[in-house]
Amino acid sequence: MAADTGPETITLTATGSAKPKPATFPHKKHQETLKCAECHHGMQDGKQVPYTEGMKIEKCETCHNPEKLAGKTKGALKLDTLKGAGHGNCVECHKEMVKKDPALKAKNIDKCATCHKK
Ligand code: HEC
Ligand code: HEC
Ligand code: HEC
Ligand code: HEC
Repeated sequence: MAADTGPETITLTATGSAKPKPATFPHKKHQETLKCAECHHGMQDGKQVPYTEGMKIEKCETCHNPEKLAGKTKGALKLDTLKGAGHGNCVECHKEMVKKDPALKAKNIDKCATCHKK
């Protein structure tokens, strides 16, 4: 049986946010060009462990919340929030991509509105 690849399109919203800013995520489209491990990982003894095929995939917020990853940061990003996880993964890659590929720059994939539709 093939691995569960999850939903084709996902709307990410932080639980309990006072100012929700949902992000649209075409999951299937990303799976066509990227490895699962670009985005998915696990945790053991509080440390990140790399994705391995067949491992249980959980929602980002299962770990990226103020209980499990309290105070963890990556630069200016707060990893104990879904925003930190999302911007650390999605925005970092989109910024890298526009540096390398003018066509993607023209598509504005590094701009807020690409993910946070008006
Ligand atoms: C590549 C996709 C992407 C881009 C570009 C992006 N974001 Fe986000 N953003 C996310 C994801 C994913 C989340 C986490 C899920 C959510 O809360 O919507 C998030 C969360 C947020 C949140 C927290 C919302 C909440 O409810 O707590 C704010 C505020 C935010 N983004 C602002 C911005 C601004 C301002 C820009 C442009 C400078 C931007 N984002 C660009 C993907 C993106
Ligand atoms: C570009 C990033 C990215 C890639 C590549 C990616 N995913 Fe995902 N995937 C996500 C995000 C983000 C979610 C939503 C997690 C959430 O709701 O918190 C998700 C959700 C899922 C879910 C549903 C999890 C749940 O409990 O709701 C499954 C299953 C899944 N992905 C499997 C895969 C597999 C298998 C691959 C590789 C073939 C893959 N994904 C590739 C980012 C990615
Ligand atoms: C099973 C728990 C768990 C899940 C689920 C999880 N993470 Fe993480 N993540 C971690 C841990 C642990 C770290 C390392 C935190 C530290 O010590 O700084 C981490 C680090 C990160 C980092 C910063 C380091 C890096 O790799 O760039 C980003 C960005 C990130 N996660 C994004 C995500 C996204 C996006 C999702 C959902 C698709 C997700 N994480 C799901 C546990 C998890
Ligand atoms: C490792 C790189 C990488 C990561 C991580 C990544 N993306 Fe992307 N994303 C891309 C690339 C490359 C494109 C442009 C695809 C194209 O148009 O050819 C793209 C396109 C998009 C688009 C525009 C799709 C369209 O139909 O034009 C959205 C929206 C988007 N990404 C949201 C997200 C969100 C939200 C996340 C995090 C949950 C994310 N991406 C994570 C590389 C990435």
